[in-house]
Amino acid sequence: MKRSLIILNLAIIQILTFNAWSAIPESRQLVLIDKNWKFIQSDVKDGEKQIFDDSKWRTLNLPHDWSIEGEFKEDAITKGPGGYLPAGIGWYRKHLNINSIAKDQQFWIEFDGVYMNSDVWINGQHLGKHPYGYTSIWYDLTPYIKKGENIIAVKVDNSLQPNSRWYSGSGIYRHVWLNTAGPVHVAQWGTYITTPVAESSSATVEVRTTIENKLTVSKNLVLRTVVTNSSGKEVAVVETALTLPSSDKTNVEQSVNVDSPELWSIETPSLYTLKTTLLEGIKPIDNYNSTFGIRKIEFDTDKGFFLNGKHVKMNGVCLHHDAGCLGAAVPDQAWVRRLQLLKDMGCNAIRLSHNPPSPEFLDLCDKMGFLVMDEIFDEWVEKKGQVGFSYHIFFEEWWKSDLVSMIYRDRNHPSIVIWSAGNEVPDQVKENGSETMRKLVEVFHKEDPTRPVTQANDRIAAGDGPAKIPFLELQDIVGYNYVDRWNERRELYYSVDRHDHPDWKMIGTENVSVGGLRGQYSLATDQSDRRPGRSRDYRLGMIQAEQLWKFTSVNDYVIGDFMWTGIDYLGEAGWPNKNSSSGVIDMCGFPKDGYYFYQSQWTDKPMVHLFPHWNWTGNEGKIIPVIVYTNCDTAELFLNGKSYGKKSYVFPQQGHSKSWNGYELPYIAPTTSDLHLSWDVPYEPGTLKIVGKKDGKTVIEEVLTTSVPDAIRLTADRKNINADMQDIVNVKVEIVDKNGLVVPTANNAVEFKVEGEGILIGTDNGNPQDKTQMKSKQRSVFNGLALAVIQSTEKSGNIRLSATSEGLKDAVIQVVSQK
Ligand code: GAL
Repeated sequence: MKRSLIILNLAIIQILTFNAWSAIPESRQLVLIDKNWKFIQSDVKDGEKQIFDDSKWRTLNLPHDWSIEGEFKEDAITKGPGGYLPAGIGWYRKHLNINSIAKDQQFWIEFDGVYMNSDVWINGQHLGKHPYGYTSIWYDLTPYIKKGENIIAVKVDNSLQPNSRWYSGSGIYRHVWLNTAGPVHVAQWGTYITTPVAESSSATVEVRTTIENKLTVSKNLVLRTVVTNSSGKEVAVVETALTLPSSDKTNVEQSVNVDSPELWSIETPSLYTLKTTLLEGIKPIDNYNSTFGIRKIEFDTDKGFFLNGKHVKMNGVCLHHDAGCLGAAVPDQAWVRRLQLLKDMGCNAIRLSHNPPSPEFLDLCDKMGFLVMDEIFDEWVEKKGQVGFSYHIFFEEWWKSDLVSMIYRDRNHPSIVIWSAGNEVPDQVKENGSETMRKLVEVFHKEDPTRPVTQANDRIAAGDGPAKIPFLELQDIVGYNYVDRWNERRELYYSVDRHDHPDWKMIGTENVSVGGLRGQYSLATDQSDRRPGRSRDYRLGMIQAEQLWKFTSVNDYVIGDFMWTGIDYLGEAGWPNKNSSSGVIDMCGFPKDGYYFYQSQWTDKPMVHLFPHWNWTGNEGKIIPVIVYTNCDTAELFLNGKSYGKKSYVFPQQGHSKSWNGYELPYIAPTTSDLHLSWDVPYEPGTLKIVGKKDGKTVIEEVLTTSVPDAIRLTADRKNINADMQDIVNVKVEIVDKNGLVVPTANNAVEFKVEGEGILIGTDNGNPQDKTQMKSKQRSVFNGLALAVIQSTEKSGNIRLSATSEGLKDAVIQVVSQK
């Protein structure tokens, strides 16, 4: 069903969602039922029963993650992998009022994700159990739902810990939907749309529609399929007559042509709507909308990836599912901001490590133009060792249904171009691993033959037990994690296997990035951890990523690279840290320097980025290495107006036109073959300026020495938000000096107050060692910056955020929240 449309029209949906449900129409409806769930963070006896007193339980709206509300504690059961936050058991109950039920009306409930081990009941009737926390779940409610009050009870058991190598969150952390339809209807995830021909002149759209008849009589039907383009114009239509026997289910295949289609691409992610109508005579008895894109994907062993015939290198990042201080319960708007940042970095591809995301995340990737690698598991049969209760416990019983449900739910998304069967599964080195790989690949190919399958292999050249060749050969594309990890291949990367296995398609499923802490620079000469990839010295931390990117970018056969990670994520940390800092964007969504490294490699619009900051009191006269990332032809560095020289990545071979030494081009000093420029500059306070030139355009960035903190500055990313209890505004908190310059070393404590129609749902500063609770209204800034996230209520009105800090001028900001 076309959820994206529904989310855009959330205001309309609320009328149905958030009030007692009255007069449900007979025809198809998809209604968000996030509002007013009762919750208790403990186990209870009889919590599933209809008659049960939950009046003292907390009332909240979904999505909800109770772990993120807790305290960070060194002895937490989730340990480092779970970010030292609590887990345990929780119960949810929803009182759902149904005022009328039409004859044979069908109902089913859909959970986008519950972490984990959920049990669901309606009116005391057990509907099912679902261990995996990342796949969507749906249950038929029809036999048990009744007029009047119904009780949906959900037990979430996240008590067996640790069960995840990264922060999972706990609870009903994604949306919940109630579906209703007539007795003859399109089944759940019942359309499968492919575009076997997708040329700019014409496309063929093939549709398989699964139709169910829940009646005891057969039905003569017409399946009418209409395709509309992004402007809503009807561009194709097809009708098929069929007879569907009683209590039966059938697949109907249809095919239509679309002339001059708007092809889906990274730059123009045009989407089409497939409108399915079931007719009995002339009466429509079901309507179901699906979103899809028309695009051609090709993977070539020698030349890499092509989208609509055009070569595209995948400039990818891996992402986990949390959003920093919001934990796993991520409002859709949080991803809009984060994905836009990645887009601006030049990122065009996302690997969902190591689990399927929310459907709304994929909708955004469709709309914003990202290529997606959708991944199903982090473990198969073999246990990884770090966490005792992870998916290997469930694999044998559940892998197939989890896998099929991901494919059914996600296969219409044009953004998804590769399926990943797993991440670094230890099965890669075991004798029976190939058998498991084969079973998984078979299901992928059966349910969606249009996309290749990979696995993120980390042991391809491990001396103490490499991945088995048959295991790798079962993969349509061989995924390489940390291709530079093996001694004898450090600088050869993929080329050894390219020589030995010229028929393999290859991709960097996960590799090193720049990472580090935002705004943190050390001049110490003793950088303790010298192991490659571990150094976060601002002068060296980028070199490994640069070398690998250089190889990836010039070798077409490498489809692309997904660096670890686009954004910092909770968990996978060692005390006193609570989160991983491998991202090029911090937990608050503030870019680190590494962000600009990728931007310099992945974008064309002229840019320069200069670091470190220029507040080095006490170091006057001392050499401070200055680093610049740029995509310009040349860049010239100035300190207080004095030039420190012009540099360029290339070694210019200028040649001469007359006699020896007769150069007519300006002299450009060659640098190393690195993908950054550097200058050694003796420190004096003032203005450091980089001037980049490209194609006749000039770009400038300045870094100024600041004075002491003077005031707080608040900047909201949006001035108007929707009064729908889902929408958010992100407020950037800066500590500035008397001239309005951000003080890069400031760590002042700030206190927030929200008034009006908003709720403070999280604060953070990007410092992995800050263990202030994520919902706290007190937060110190980290290196000048912090973030406050405010969510709307259901009432229109103003939202006022004020921020105070001892010794600093206060700040206030106002945002309008409207229906
Ligand atoms: C990889 C793994 C990721 C993460 C990363 C940390 O091997 O696939 O999930 O653990 O290491 O560096």
